[in-house]
Amino acid sequence: MENNKKKLQVSAIENGTVLDHIPASELFRVIDILHLQDASQEMTIGMNLPSRTFGRKALIKLADRCFRDEELNAIALIAPSATVNIIKDFEVVEKKKIAVPEKIIGIAKCMNPMCVTNHQDIPTKFTTIVRGGEIELHCDYCEKVTDSKNLKIVSNNR
Ligand code: CTP
Ligand code: ZN
Repeated sequence: MENNKKKLQVSAIENGTVLDHIPASELFRVIDILHLQDASQEMTIGMNLPSRTFGRKALIKLADRCFRDEELNAIALIAPSATVNIIKDFEVVEKKKIAVPEKIIGIAKCMNPMCVTNHQDIPTKFTTIVRGGEIELHCDYCEKVTDSKNLKIVSNNR
């Protein structure tokens, strides 16, 4: 089989989570949203790897670590194509797609400069609407729409 001959671009892991099919340009934002800069587990990252469907993709392999679905779904904003593989004893035991959560709290910025969330220290809160494969964020405070082109992630570091 093709798979048996294929050499992995990043070494296999024994136990943990593999986030695959991340658009290469979104790797660092995924790291940021999942707070992976603070992870203590062994982590290997591949970026600009060739992919049949993407051109270039990124992947993250994190040993001995599981994520809650809500944590993973937060990356739907920037990497809806990502797949989540749960690895046990070197085998893929579960493969999940990222789901778009109904509410997004404290991850994206509201593009309305007048919005209260841009003036006071309160987390943003949006209701998501998927339109033509793109995610739109409806601000629960000012009701303005932030579309994916105007999407800015609130960084954890700044
Ligand atoms: N993987 C890993 N360690 C393992 C098993 C798998 O790091 N012990 C990684 C693979 O490198 C791949 C991902 O987990 O990035 C998914 O593995 P697999 O389902 O075998 O790969 P594909 O068939 O290419 O899956 P898909 O097309 O869904 O990406
Ligand atoms: Zn707003």
